[in-house]
Amino acid sequence: EKVLDRGATAVAHPNIALIKYWGKRDERLVIPYVDSLSMTLNIFPTVTTVRLVPEGQADTVMLDGTSASGEQRQRVIAFLDLVREMAGRTEPAAVDTRNSVPTAAGLASSASGFAALAVAGAAAYGLALDPTALSRLARRGSASAARSIFGAFAICYAGRGVGAAADLSSYAEPVPVAKFDPALVIAMVNAGPKPVSSRAAMRRTVGTSPLYRSWALSSKADLSDMQAALQRGDLEAVGEIAERNALGMHATMLAARPAVRYLSPATVAVLDSVLQLRRDGFAAYATMDAGPNVKVLCHQADAARVADTVHGAAAGCSVVTARRGPGARLLIGAE
Ligand code: PMV
Repeated sequence: EKVLDRGATAVAHPNIALIKYWGKRDERLVIPYVDSLSMTLNIFPTVTTVRLVPEGQADTVMLDGTSASGEQRQRVIAFLDLVREMAGRTEPAAVDTRNSVPTAAGLASSASGFAALAVAGAAAYGLALDPTALSRLARRGSASAARSIFGAFAICYAGRGVGAAADLSSYAEPVPVAKFDPALVIAMVNAGPKPVSSRAAMRRTVGTSPLYRSWALSSKADLSDMQAALQRGDLEAVGEIAERNALGMHATMLAARPAVRYLSPATVAVLDSVLQLRRDGFAAYATMDAGPNVKVLCHQADAARVADTVHGAAAGCSVVTARRGPGARLLIGAE
């Protein structure tokens, strides 16, 4: 088949929220209920190429070398439709995306995935978007992706109002943090796909959990405490706030009907080992997303010790250490 020349390749890294996003107030526009704040990582990049193909062909979506199907393919095509609508274009596209992290295992593959797709897709279709607009676009794929447009620390606003006003005001932006460069030790206790998608789990939590509202409220206080702690470069405070915010989010899920439980016995074993590290005098704090894996925030000087300890806590878990990383960027293609 003849392939048009227009194509673009982008790279983006996952991010881990220190203040979590959980729950959408508008599912179609992907507008969160709460503001969130994250650290973009320097590991597990996603590299995505979008090439325009001649009219009449179907969109194709390759994920790690195999043709995507079902829900995964649908989400990418819906995203391309949005980019095409914004660009006033109609050409179909061939999307090739490579994750270096297990997909859908609560390791933020959707964040790096949709951030890379937003940057590559906008460039391929000739859309010149500023970082805020790119972040709003990435949000439509996955709200956590809005934050991966930026490196290091980023805050994502839930936005104000409804409809177009909400869409315009919900985006991420960098949080300038001068001298805070912690390690994030990731304990992968299970890299398989999660049992319930975060989309479905959020819907159920918002719809049925009696704890959701109070967590969302306490999250506001957590966010302002977190911003102050980051500015001070205070790892103990950052870690404590991140840990309570994440445990609170999981509490909202556990109280959903029926319960959404991502935490496994191995997760709890790792959490116990983090408590033990603290008793032994190490600053180590845990956060968990929509999956059983645990991310432990600590000083870089302690990272090897923390990695050893969590590795010993859960049989067969693999451990990798990250730190703050770069924002999404175009590698090849038209600006
Ligand atoms: O990957 P998403 O955008 O569907 O949502 C994931 C949400 C959490 O990872 C659990 C928290 C967060 O803010 O990243």
